Amino acid sequence: MTNPVSHAIELVDIRKAYGDVVAVDGVSLAIAHGEFFSLLGPSGCGKTTTLRVIAGFATLDAGDVRLGGVSTTHVPPHRRDVNTVFQQYALFPHMTVEENVGFGLRVRKASRSDIRAAVGDALDMVRLHGCEGRRPTELSGGQQQRVALARALVNRPSVLLLDEPLAALDLKLRQEMRDELKRLQREVGITFVYVTHDQDEAMALSDRMAVMNGGRVEQVGPGPDVYEHPSNRFVADFIGATNFVPVQVLSVDAGVALTQTVGVGAARLRAQARVHLAPGERSTLSVRPEHVRLVPRSEPTGDANGLAGTVADRTYLGATVEYRVRVGDEAELVVVEPTGGGSGQVQPGADVSVLWSVGDSWLLSD
Ligand SMILES: Nc1ncnc2c1ncn2[C@@H]1O[C@H](COP(=O)(O)OP(=O)(O)OP(=O)(O)O)[C@@H](O)[C@H]1O
Ligand SMILES: [Mg+2]
Repeated sequence: MTNPVSHAIELVDIRKAYGDVVAVDGVSLAIAHGEFFSLLGPSGCGKTTTLRVIAGFATLDAGDVRLGGVSTTHVPPHRRDVNTVFQQYALFPHMTVEENVGFGLRVRKASRSDIRAAVGDALDMVRLHGCEGRRPTELSGGQQQRVALARALVNRPSVLLLDEPLAALDLKLRQEMRDELKRLQREVGITFVYVTHDQDEAMALSDRMAVMNGGRVEQVGPGPDVYEHPSNRFVADFIGATNFVPVQVLSVDAGVALTQTVGVGAARLRAQARVHLAPGERSTLSVRPEHVRLVPRSEPTGDANGLAGTVADRTYLGATVEYRVRVGDEAELVVVEPTGGGSGQVQPGADVSVLWSVGDSWLLSD
């Protein structure tokens, strides 16, 4: 029996080691029905292992995987209502598109007319009508990826696991397929668990994401939340570019800390303090490059939050201009401004003030 209020997937303190290597180390997650959920993290952090555990291809050392509220401890992979699309999508080269997509149904001895109808529906979903008779070698990379998706969708699983499905495609195609995937997931309403190490992809696609590192989950939340409020240094660094300034806490009042920089001049900076910090403690202040602005040093800054520096480098990137600003002896801050806006005239060598709002800067735990 499926519990109607249950989650599509619950990982309860799961652990999986391969010999001495702990691939997944105490991960707990609850993924809602119909959610587009991403596992995001660097190579080797345990993303594929987590998918394999959900699918039942890898056995757990500890913890439990629940699908629709039901423990899967004794449920073999082929009895789980889950399909997987692997990075190497491994289409059968000697079969046509239609045969590839219908393969699973033929194995399960579905009737010829049922297979035809289901394959037709699946090819509709991935917009591949007219290609039924072709073989994989006669398709583009993006089309092959669609066949792999159709082959998984034809079974109408309640959960679809996707392991870096777009990694083999070039950038343009990857962006197109990204939009397709999002549309498809909305249309079919299936729960997607999507593995990627590409933060843009995770940001564009997911309702929520889990950022993983060394077999553990560092943070879970909607993309904008994770980006705007990274809970620690690893997440801030992994999700988008950010500036770090080492500081010492002087005082904390109503969630805002007054700090003193360490090693980069002796400026006083205010920042939001979400983590618990006591006066005297060392911390790291984080501020995104797009939240920092440059003004010539000669202009008064009032009591604005910021540091004095010298522009070391200016790089034109089309839509934006990126500045590297040297502050203190060895620290550098990156500032990104829209081209034509902000301080477009500032050249390397210029003495500047680098300013940002207190609300755009955060103290992080390490
Ligand atoms: N079959 C295996 N035998 C031994 N070690 C393994 C095995 N599979 C994975 N590992 C190890 O477990 C850790 C996690 O691997 P996993 O494949 O889950 O990482 P990943 O996040 O998917 O990485 P990538 O982004 O490179 O695909 C790594 O250290 C890896 O070397
Ligand atoms: Mg992997």
